Amino acid sequence: MCTEHPRSVGRLRRAVTPVALVVALAVVAACNGTTSYMDATGTAGRREATLGWWLTAVSCVVVVFVSAAIILGILRHRDDPRRGDEGVMERREVKSGLTWIYAGVAVTVAILAISFAGTLVTLNAASRPRITPSLTLDVTAHQWWWEVTYSQADNPSLGFTTANEVHLPVGEPVRVRLHSADVIHSFWLPQISGKMDVIPGQVNETWLEARKAGTSRGMCGEYCGLEHAVMALEVTAESPEAFRQWADARRTGAAPSTTLSPSASAGRVVFARSCGACHAVTGTEALGRFAPDLTHFASRTTIGAGALTNTSAHLARWVRNAPAVKEGVRMPPIPLTDTEMRDVIAYIQTLH
Ligand code: CUA
Repeated sequence: MCTEHPRSVGRLRRAVTPVALVVALAVVAACNGTTSYMDATGTAGRREATLGWWLTAVSCVVVVFVSAAIILGILRHRDDPRRGDEGVMERREVKSGLTWIYAGVAVTVAILAISFAGTLVTLNAASRPRITPSLTLDVTAHQWWWEVTYSQADNPSLGFTTANEVHLPVGEPVRVRLHSADVIHSFWLPQISGKMDVIPGQVNETWLEARKAGTSRGMCGEYCGLEHAVMALEVTAESPEAFRQWADARRTGAAPSTTLSPSASAGRVVFARSCGACHAVTGTEALGRFAPDLTHFASRTTIGAGALTNTSAHLARWVRNAPAVKEGVRMPPIPLTDTEMRDVIAYIQTLH
């Protein structure tokens, strides 16, 4: 009987350690200021986070109670003055043990039933928006970047394409249709909503609704090859007015060549020749569709789906030899003279 004690302590430690780790990770994730699903600002994300906290809290309480019951049982058994009297012991244990088992089963069933019902209600509420969205995002995942096309049911003329960025009007649900150009990816804006797989040959549909203005990071949530980790998008949730302004600006093309500086004007020619077969800039000769649309590139904060921050030095580094920055990237090194490089960077910086 004495060997029971260390075994119980070991069992207690095994039960408590994972819970303590999860709680510690959750606290670190919620407090370190980076994008985290623990800090949900989307309608579905908030519901799911609340459910997650409830289930975590219930699990912690259950672990504490079970641990306390085990410890109590061990201690009471040891202090029993009738220890050794086999007949008395047997009768007492059978009686009190059954009562504990009935109570334990009842409490367990109640907790599981409440958690199950809460999960069903939450997931049902998170599965669809309260009103039919009028704005649609067609998101196409590529190795390793995101193409995003906006369209609006009640305004067919609204249509434009961006890359590696998503803007959301706060308080308005948005329909999202997911397409893949190559392999399986997973679309994940942790602060707004849960993940959804992006599967070749199939259109998966989900919805998003931001409840609070702010920026966060979206990412690919499923391993999709060498640069899976560098497949980020910038998520901007903003007021509906700010969103309309942003969308209106997206629909206009690049500035006409007559308004460009001599360097940027020369850069536009270099761009059309060296970049235009893969990249598009609306309103210019650059019509490529293999690579991210760069019509408003200068207003983005990152280069290469989160590989670098968008500065002219980083841009020159990227254009000269992108694989040196992001090894698996499809963009080859672009051989340009120093003057051509300066001009093309000057041109790209006009693409607001
Ligand atoms: Cu795309 Cu991982």
